[in-house]
Amino acid sequence: MTKIGIIGGTRGMGNWFARFLEKEGHAVRVFGRNVSEANIAEMADTCQVVVVSVPMGATGEVIAKVGPHMRKASLLMDLTSLKRDSVKTMLETSVSEVIGCHPLFGPRINSIAGQNVVLCPARARKWLSWLTDIFEKNGAFVLAATPEKHDQMMAIVQGLNHFNTIMMGLVLSKAGVSLSELMKFATPGFRAKMEIMERVFCQNPGLYADILTMNPDIHRHIEAYEQDVAQLKKLICQGNSAGIADVIEKHASFFEVI
Ligand SMILES: NC(=O)c1ccc[n+]([C@@H]2O[C@H](COP(=O)([O-])OP(=O)(O)OC[C@H]3O[C@@H](n4cnc5c(N)ncnc54)[C@H](OP(=O)(O)O)[C@@H]3O)[C@@H](O)[C@H]2O)c1
Repeated sequence: MTKIGIIGGTRGMGNWFARFLEKEGHAVRVFGRNVSEANIAEMADTCQVVVVSVPMGATGEVIAKVGPHMRKASLLMDLTSLKRDSVKTMLETSVSEVIGCHPLFGPRINSIAGQNVVLCPARARKWLSWLTDIFEKNGAFVLAATPEKHDQMMAIVQGLNHFNTIMMGLVLSKAGVSLSELMKFATPGFRAKMEIMERVFCQNPGLYADILTMNPDIHRHIEAYEQDVAQLKKLICQGNSAGIADVIEKHASFFEVI
């Protein structure tokens, strides 16, 4: 049994991780916003693993508070959706082992089986296999990556993806039709998109805003998006069906492996 402390374990992803680790037989203590300096020092002293799972904007500041209290043989890890800054701050403020961790799912999932988890082992010795084993024995796929590579991929998987969802939701809400009327005409594909929009618009808007604003790798994808919107708009206004088919066809090879 390992003693684990989770700052940000009262709700959301940290709370999901607390329940997951408890099921694995570990002793987990959770703290929220009311965690004091004394709580942090005592937790770092008594827990072998300390996890930071607070909103992205507060992550650096919380890591900077806990890092200096960590013991060399312990593990400091975070669950933040971006890894470059959090891993850097964990390395700079502590002497402990450091692993950045990003579970690629939200706290509403019932089972981790089949889900992806990215680990950024930055100063990892004995704790890397401990953490990997916990995820893998529950059926998750664990991938090791550098923080830079992780953030580049998240600029697409989360940044571009959520940007696109928000854009569609904004346009939809101005279309002059009610949701109930629209859903009577829904196709399976549209219904699936509506579920995604409900998630983005109705849960945790701050998380999506942070994902879009805190990853500079997103900027070039938004630029490309703008250019493609302009190109497609032009072809549509011209009634150039062959031109649109041509654009789609030219990019088809990218998707053929899926
Ligand atoms: N939600 C997801 O789908 C998801 C998926 C993967 C990774 N993540 C990452 O998980 C982290 C948390 O996101 P979340 O969605 O779980 O957020 P959340 O539901 O808003 O929960 C935030 C947690 O952090 C605590 N907290 C907030 N500010 C704090 C501070 N200054 N000091 C100490 N504790 C503080 C809150 O405590 P109180 O109870 O006192 O408010 C709560 O326990 C983020 O870094 C996010 O990028 C989220």
